[in-house]
Amino acid sequence: MSTATKTMDKQEVTSSEQTDLSMGTLSRLLAYMIGAEQRPKFILGTITRVIALLGLIALPYITGEGMNEISDPNGSADVLTRWAVYGVIAGAFYLIFSFISDRTFASMATKALHKLQTNLFSNIQTLSMDFFYKNPPGELSSNVTNDAEVVSLFYTNAVNQIIRATFQVVLIFGVMLLINWKLALVALTTIPFLLIGIYVITQIASPAFISLQKELGDISGFQEETLAGHKVVISKRRKEWTEKKHEEYAANVYKIGKRAFLAALMQLPMTQTLTLFQNVLVMVAGTFMVINGKTTLGVVLAFSGYAALLASPLNQIANLITNALNASAGGERVFKIIDEKPTVKDAPDATEYEFKGGHLECIDVDFSYIPGRKILRKNTFEVQPGESIGICGPTGAGKSTLINILTRYYDIDSGTILIDGQDLSNLTQASLRKQVGVVLQEAFLFTDTVMNNLLYAREGATEEEAIAAAKDANAHGFIINLPQGYDTMLTERGANLSQGQRQMITIARAMVAEPKLMILDEATSNVDTRTEKLIQDGMHKLMEGKTSFSIAHRLATIRDSSKIMVVNGGDIVEYAPHDELMENKDFYYALYMSQFKSKAPGGAEATDVEFIST
Ligand SMILES: Nc1ncnc2c1ncn2[C@@H]1O[C@H](COP(=O)(O)OP(=O)(O)OP(=O)(O)O)[C@@H](O)[C@H]1O
Ligand SMILES: [Mg+2]
Repeated sequence: MSTATKTMDKQEVTSSEQTDLSMGTLSRLLAYMIGAEQRPKFILGTITRVIALLGLIALPYITGEGMNEISDPNGSADVLTRWAVYGVIAGAFYLIFSFISDRTFASMATKALHKLQTNLFSNIQTLSMDFFYKNPPGELSSNVTNDAEVVSLFYTNAVNQIIRATFQVVLIFGVMLLINWKLALVALTTIPFLLIGIYVITQIASPAFISLQKELGDISGFQEETLAGHKVVISKRRKEWTEKKHEEYAANVYKIGKRAFLAALMQLPMTQTLTLFQNVLVMVAGTFMVINGKTTLGVVLAFSGYAALLASPLNQIANLITNALNASAGGERVFKIIDEKPTVKDAPDATEYEFKGGHLECIDVDFSYIPGRKILRKNTFEVQPGESIGICGPTGAGKSTLINILTRYYDIDSGTILIDGQDLSNLTQASLRKQVGVVLQEAFLFTDTVMNNLLYAREGATEEEAIAAAKDANAHGFIINLPQGYDTMLTERGANLSQGQRQMITIARAMVAEPKLMILDEATSNVDTRTEKLIQDGMHKLMEGKTSFSIAHRLATIRDSSKIMVVNGGDIVEYAPHDELMENKDFYYALYMSQFKSKAPGGAEATDVEFIST
C-alpha cells in the first residue's frame, strides 16, 4: 500500500502548488535569462528582433505600393521593379535579423538554464543528508528534470516569443494608425472578439493542460515505482492491484487530455474565422474609401496583410500564458530547493574555515537526532592531515551520522570538534561546504549531457577540468565509449547508464569541485570490485595529501585506508590500520572473517561479538 499512499500524497501536493501563477517566481526565472550578465545579449536580441520585424512590416506596405503601380494607368515597369527590389531587401532583413535574434535568445536560454541548474546543485550540496532522506536522489532528479523541462521551454520559446509578439503587435498597430487611422479602426474591430475568444479558450484549456501534465507525472511516477518495485509486483494480488490502478490513471489522463486538446483545437478555427471576417471588413470599408478617393487600393491590400500579421502574435501570447503558468509552477519547486536552508544555523560571529591540511579532532562528542535518544556517545578520536579513514560497522551503527556531524550537517549535543584547530561550531557552513566533497550511494544526476553534469559541480569549471576529473575518477574510458561521448544525454533516472557508471560520474563531479576533504558514503557499493579498484586509484590520486572518509560495508573497499574506524552501536569500538585490527582479533576481525569466510575456509575463528544498531 505504501506505493499508493506515496503517489497520492505527491498528487495532493502538486495540485495545490500548480494552480497559481506567481509573478514573483516568473520574474525570478526571468532574472536568470535577462539579468545583468545577459543584458548585452538581451539588448542585441531585442534590437535585431525589432529590425527583423520592421522588414516584415515593410512587406505588406511594399506589396501595396507595387499594387498601386500596377493599377496605375501611368505606372512604369521601372518603379514596379524598384518596389520588387525593396521587397526582396525587406524579406532578407527579416530573415537575417530573425536568425541573429533567435540565435542570441537561444544562447541566453542555454546560459540561463545552466546557471539555474548550477545554483540548484550547489544548494543541494549544502543541505543536510536529512534532505536526501526526505527526497531520495532518484526521485529528486526525476522531479527536478520535469521542472527543468518546463522552465527550459519557457527560456527557449516563451521569452523570445513574448518579445517578438509584443513588438509585432505594437509596431503593426503603429504603422496602421500612421498610414490610415480610419481604416485602422475598422481593421481593429475584430480584435476585442479575438481576445475574448482566446481568453475563453485559455480559461478552459490551461487548467486542463496543467492537470494533464500532473496526471502524466503521476502515471509516470506510478510506472517508475512499479518498475522499481517489480519484485513486489510479481505476487499475484499485487499485480492485479497494480493493473487496476494503472487503468484508473490511464482513464483519467484520457479524460483530461480530451478536454485540453479539444479546447486548444478550437483556437485555430476561431482565429481563422475572425481573421477572415476582419479581412472582409477591411475590404468593404477600403473599397468605399477607394471609390471616394480617400485611399488607394495598395493601402487596402497592405491593411489586409497587416490584419493577418496581427492574429498570429495575439494567438501566441495566449499560448504563452499556459507556458508561463507551467514554468511558474516548475520554477517554484526548483526555487524551493534553491532556497532550502540547512537545518543548522551559522553562529552570529561565525568565521570562514581556513584549510590547513585537514586535521580533525573529536573530543567527547555526544549526538542525538531526537532529544533523549543518543546516537553517538562520548566519541573521541583524531585524524591526521592527509589520512584516509575507512569507516565500517553494522547497519544503523551511526556511520553516516558520524559523517553528518563532522561536516556539520547537524550540531552536536556536547563535546568539541576541531577542524584544522578551528572549532567546527564557529565556522560558516558555506566556507566548510566549499572544501568538503560528499558522494552518496545514490547518484543525483540531471537529465542533461555528461559534460554538463560534471560542470554543475563548480561555477566557472572548464571542460578541460571536467575531463581531467573524469580521467582521475577513471570514468573517462566508459564516457568516451558512450554514443556521443561527453555530449551523451543522461536519460531520466540514468536508464542508459549502469548504477556503477552513475556513481563514477558523481565521483568525477565531486572531483571537479576540487574539495580539500572528501567523503564517500557507500559511494562505490554499486560497482564491481574491479571498477571499484579503478575508482579508488583515482580517488587516491585526487586525495593525495588530503583527508578523506569512506564508509563501506564491503571491507575490501577500505582495507588499504590509513586507518579504519569501526563503529558499533554509536561507539567507535576500534580505530587502527587494517593489519593491526586483524591482529587484535576483535570486532573488525569478526566482520572481516564473516565477509571472507568463503574465500578463507577454515580461517581462524571469530571472537564473539554482537552487532548493535543504535
Ligand atoms: N535524520 C534522522 N533522524 C532521526 N534518526 C536518524 C536520522 N538518521 C539516522 N537516524 C538514526 O540514527 C541511527 C544511525 O543511523 P546511521 O544512518 O548513522 O547508520 P549507518 O551506520 O550509516 O547505517 P547504514 O550502514 O545502514 O547506512 C539509526 O538508528 C537511525 O535510525
Ligand atoms: Mg549510512
